[in-house]
Amino acid sequence: MSATIIDGKAFAATIRDKVAGHVARLSEEHGITPGLAVVLVGEDPASQVYVRSKGKQTVEAGMSSYEHKLEEDTSEADLLALIDRLNNDPSVHGILVQLPLPRHIDEDLVINSIDPVKDVDGFHISNVGLLGTGQKSMVPCTPLGCLMMLRAHLGNLSGLDAVVIGRSNIVGKPMAQLLLGDSCTVTIAHSRTRDIADVVRRADIVVAAVGRPEMVPGDWIKPGATVIDVGINRIERDGRNVLVGDVDFASAGKVAGAITPVPGGVGPMTIACLLANTVTACCRVNG
Ligand code: GUN
Repeated sequence: MSATIIDGKAFAATIRDKVAGHVARLSEEHGITPGLAVVLVGEDPASQVYVRSKGKQTVEAGMSSYEHKLEEDTSEADLLALIDRLNNDPSVHGILVQLPLPRHIDEDLVINSIDPVKDVDGFHISNVGLLGTGQKSMVPCTPLGCLMMLRAHLGNLSGLDAVVIGRSNIVGKPMAQLLLGDSCTVTIAHSRTRDIADVVRRADIVVAAVGRPEMVPGDWIKPGATVIDVGINRIERDGRNVLVGDVDFASAGKVAGAITPVPGGVGPMTIACLLANTVTACCRVNG
């Protein structure tokens, strides 16, 4: 292993401390406590873990956490009615509907029913449009965390070649927009990309967000490149259940200049950025 390990866990802890400082000042100087409502529909085990973790860290930062756990067979109309109540509740500054939703619910309809000012995920179509046109917007948490780590490690990103592997609305597309905003030359690679190894090999920055265990081997990585691994995949290895990323850490770590580990890289940054977005939403509403 020659690469520098980018410690997302430590970085996230510094962001959480800053957020807690802001929250304390908002409370002392303005009597306001930021509030985050998280809505979970159904019993998806991974989503339950994420939601629990979000609630715990929200409270630890001094904010109010409102958890709404709904049955798997909740109707779309009932979910929309809950969102309407949260949109109109002044103690709720941020709303997050955990994805994926059950198949009978229209995800786009639900996301776009959230007040864009309270859309701490940055998934509402108006926030997507603002980001795409370089205007002030709520920025999706995972790509925001990746950008913060890249800036901290590399400084100015201007002119660098960046490849984002994966074209999801949650990570790939907003990540590409953020890198473009920092003047990178951006390529989005995906399952239909021809000669993907050659495309990735040109990149100074690689962000892997495909959800396929260890898909990116070390020989796809340009020597010295910075590699951000968004994947969190559970696999069986040597009879044990382990978490691995989308990048083969062992081989990529020998070639890259810097790399994020899994776990302990992007994951902790996502929730830290969610807390930061909630404070941002609170400050925008309260001037
Ligand atoms: N499911 C997986 N990632 C996310 C995320 O960032 N936000 C929401 N709301 N759901 C998710």
